[in-house]
Amino acid sequence: MDMPVPETYEAGLQYWPYRLSLAKVLEAIQVTTLPGATVLDIMCGPGYLLGQLCKAYPSLRLTGVDIEEQYIDFGRRRYPNVSFEVGDVCTWRSTDGFSTVVCTGALHHVPYGNQGAAIHNISRMVKPGGVVIISDCYVDEYANETERRLAAAKLGDAYLRETIRAGAPPDVLAWTADITKNDVCGEEFKPCLRDRVPLLGAAFKNIQTFRVWPEESGTGYGDYIHICGPC
Ligand SMILES: C[S@@+](CC[C@H](N)C(=O)[O-])C[C@H]1O[C@@H](n2cnc3c(N)ncnc32)[C@H](O)[C@@H]1O
Repeated sequence: MDMPVPETYEAGLQYWPYRLSLAKVLEAIQVTTLPGATVLDIMCGPGYLLGQLCKAYPSLRLTGVDIEEQYIDFGRRRYPNVSFEVGDVCTWRSTDGFSTVVCTGALHHVPYGNQGAAIHNISRMVKPGGVVIISDCYVDEYANETERRLAAAKLGDAYLRETIRAGAPPDVLAWTADITKNDVCGEEFKPCLRDRVPLLGAAFKNIQTFRVWPEESGTGYGDYIHICGPC
C-alpha cells in the first residue's frame, strides 16, 4: 500500500479524529516517563509525535523507527535532535532497552497474521520496569469477511465525516477516503478490539485500555489507547 507523502500525512494529523488520540498519548508519556529517559517511537511515520516530545520535554532521548525511507528522511530533516532508523517492527532490535516505547496508530498496517509477532517484538524493546503505550484504530466486531468489510466501511464513513467537519483541505480528504478503500479491500488490517486484546495479553501484564474517539460509551469501532506495564 502506498503511504501519502510526509507533508500530506503531517497535514492530516491536524484534522483526523486521530489527533485526539495523539494528544492523549503525549499526556500518558508525560505521566509515565522521567526526565532524561529514553523513548522509542516504533512505526513513527514522519516523526510528528517525536517532534512534539522534543519541544515539550527536551531532556528526553528520542529514537524513531519506521519501514518507510521517505518518512525517516523527512524526520531526520525536520527533527534533527531525534535519532531515526529504518526498521521493521517485527524484526528491529536495539542493543539497550528503552524506558518508554510508543507505537501509535500503526499496528493495523501489519498483516493480521503478523500482528502478534510485532507486539511480541515491541515487548522486547522496553527495559524492565518500563512502559509501552500502544494506540490503534479498531473496527466493530465481525464474524466473517463480509461483516469485516461492512465494519471497515462504517468506520471509514465516520472518520471521513469527522475530517470534513474539521475543515480538512482536498488532499487530506482524498487520502482519508483512501483509508476506507484500503481497509475494505484488505490493504490495511484493522482488527476489532476483541481480536487485539489476546495478542496484547500474551505480551504484557497490567494493561489499561480506553477509547478516545468516538466519545460515546460502548466497545465498538474507534481509536483506543493501551498502556502496558510497568513491564
Ligand atoms: C498510520 S502511520 C502511523 C505513523 C505514526 N506512528 C503516527 O502516529 O502518526 C503507520 C506507519 O507504520 C509504518 N509501517 C508499516 N509497516 C511497518 C513495519 N512492518 N515496520 C515498521 N513500520 C511500518 C508506515 O510506514 C507508517 O509510517
